[in-house]
Amino acid sequence: MDNARGFRLRKSLLFLFVLLASCDSSSSKKQIKNLYYDPRLFFDLDSEVNRVPCAIQGKIPSWLSGTLLRNGPAKFHVGDQQVSYFDGLAMLHAFDFSSDQVLYTNRFIRSEQYYIMMDKKSVNFSGFSQDPCPKLFKEQTRFIPQDMKGIENADVSIQEYADQMVALTEVPLPVLFDTGTLDTLGALHYNDTIPQGQWESAHPLHDPAAGESVNYFVRFSEKCSYVIWRMADHQSARQVIAEIPVQLPAYMHSFALTERYVVLVEFPFVVNPLDLMLNKKAFILNYKWIPDRGTHFYVVERSTGKVAATIKGDPFFAFHHVNAFDQGDKIFIDVVTYLNPDLIESIAVRSTPPMKVEKSQITKMERFTIDISAQKLSRETIFPQILEMPRVAANRTASEYRYCYAHKPLTLQEQAGLHKIDVATKTSLSWAEDGCVPGEPIFVPRPRAEDEDDGAVLSLVLDYTNKRSFLLILDAKKFTEIARAEAPHAIPIGIHGYWKGI
Ligand SMILES: [Fe+2]
Repeated sequence: MDNARGFRLRKSLLFLFVLLASCDSSSSKKQIKNLYYDPRLFFDLDSEVNRVPCAIQGKIPSWLSGTLLRNGPAKFHVGDQQVSYFDGLAMLHAFDFSSDQVLYTNRFIRSEQYYIMMDKKSVNFSGFSQDPCPKLFKEQTRFIPQDMKGIENADVSIQEYADQMVALTEVPLPVLFDTGTLDTLGALHYNDTIPQGQWESAHPLHDPAAGESVNYFVRFSEKCSYVIWRMADHQSARQVIAEIPVQLPAYMHSFALTERYVVLVEFPFVVNPLDLMLNKKAFILNYKWIPDRGTHFYVVERSTGKVAATIKGDPFFAFHHVNAFDQGDKIFIDVVTYLNPDLIESIAVRSTPPMKVEKSQITKMERFTIDISAQKLSRETIFPQILEMPRVAANRTASEYRYCYAHKPLTLQEQAGLHKIDVATKTSLSWAEDGCVPGEPIFVPRPRAEDEDDGAVLSLVLDYTNKRSFLLILDAKKFTEIARAEAPHAIPIGIHGYWKGI
């Protein structure tokens, strides 16, 4: 039997199989019971508040005008049921600096999952690492308000598309929200006819020089592909840059963008699409680590969509690219690397304390240099300490840059903190405070700044010792505190954010 016929046969059996299997979620419920939460860092935040003035320590820079938006899971439990960290209910937070006060607002995204957990008191829904059980999911969506049907639990990141703010997770439909009230407005429907994939990166990159955003999605089918797209600023119509066929798609949380290229760094953490349909496992648990495959760098020309090079390197895994740029025949790609993807399972399934340093949690920042004409790849360490959530100045995306700001996770051995990394000199500055875990640091430039690091770094800090949160404002040059704005409640550790300037 050839592959195509085999696929069709399996597909025809699949529907019956899924119907029979979809309501038996006992195995995944067993997994969920064993999930570990560090209650200091991950807890339910049920209250929503609107424009509450924050107590200020220090002096907020007078030029800082705009809103820091944050996204992340903030509810994990219903009764004695719980979801994994990745599938906690998305909550948006806003720190508004547009007046002489700092005003704080927070609101859950009104997703289908929100209504299931809050109204139905159930955790039976599909998620990143949550029981898929599609039939049950369909049955339980009947009570969801009509205008919120199809809204996903977009708990990962925030982006600006078509002059509107959207929350994103790793499914294709962005969730629109109001920047002032944080109310969920519905799904953003693109003004194009591109057949959508089933998975999409929550890390689109905005290239300020080209005036466009670039992202990629995975189309799972008999013939899978990575589809890379662009969308001009102020527009909601995408154009396909390239479609790359792939047999076993990899989990690539983010990608690299330079002035001339898009580079997909394909780690050997791959899925057989049939497993996604046939296995009764949550989405991410179908992926397999196959280090012998190595890591493939697909270098795609932005102007033509042509694959200029496919270069194989050693196996490694990453969630986040720091930045990338090209010069002549060379492409420089900076990545926070892991030895393997074990951390995903550690967070999603196992009862392992997430803050315990294991091999799987040790990261470093590395630079991969691709010489296109020689078709060669080299690798060097830029920053050897543990880091995550790297950010660079937004106006340096896809171009040469010098400074990276990153979060330092809490471990059993060391307290959490923040790094400022000088990529040119390979030196760093740090900030830390006892009992505190800062989140992703976001750089805000001073108006008309000339130096890349002339501005402020904002980070939402959880002071788990005193059960409170505050927005930390650092001088980006010296990496020292200027001020802090106290939130009215403790906020669980979130994921990504966005600075929306005025
Ligand atoms: Fe991310």
